[in-house]
Amino acid sequence: MRFDIVSLFPEFVAQLAAHGVVGRAGDRGLLSIHGWNPRDHAEGNYRRVDDRPCGGGPGMVMLIDPLRAAINAAREADAAPAKVLYLSPQGRRLDQAKVRELAAAPRLILLCGRYEGVDERLVQHEVDEELSIGDYVLSGGELAAAVLIDAVARLQDGALNDAESAVQDSFGGDGLLDCPHYTRPVEHELGAVPEVLLSGNHAGIARWRRQQSLGRTWLRRPDLLDEASLSKQDRILLGE
Ligand code: ADE
Repeated sequence: MRFDIVSLFPEFVAQLAAHGVVGRAGDRGLLSIHGWNPRDHAEGNYRRVDDRPCGGGPGMVMLIDPLRAAINAAREADAAPAKVLYLSPQGRRLDQAKVRELAAAPRLILLCGRYEGVDERLVQHEVDEELSIGDYVLSGGELAAAVLIDAVARLQDGALNDAESAVQDSFGGDGLLDCPHYTRPVEHELGAVPEVLLSGNHAGIARWRRQQSLGRTWLRRPDLLDEASLSKQDRILLGE
């Protein structure tokens, strides 16, 4: 899968490719990240990429033309079709279902805004989808793009060492939060590992984990239960 980042700081996002799961996926040839700086497509001595907002007010707005030229350069760099995603707090909120959908694409162009945002006409004509990573405002789309790439990269076949872990994770298969995890030592001054996990009883362990997942989701994110795929047994555990 190929990611093209249109940003004033493309190297910031490309750093992702140096570490962890994303780095390893890159090493395994499962993904590549390419940066496109609108400043390289800006005109004049100052290579201007922004201007004051029409109608007045604080901040600056990113100009159409340098961004458009950078998007087009990214498009032309590869024959695979690419959706253009704009990261902004006004977008639809990213969730694991959307991440799964994006992970199936051959290629994504990620547009990162700075300042007050980008000229709306560019969004209307060049952007396929506007996505937010949460209800808070970052100073630019780069961190949001990094979050999106990380979430999508780990779903690429072969990116994780233990493919199972993507299914078990929170939101993995059934839309529930993950259960708690423990490792050695089994006795510690901070507490003991729950006994069932040491019992060797696989059915008992699976049941305990399911109960924990259900309980946590019920306590912390009851909104997720509406969409989760629950068995009859799960519903009994939840007291429904
Ligand atoms: N840019 C600034 N804030 C953002 C957010 N919450 N999500 C995506 N892009 C952003």
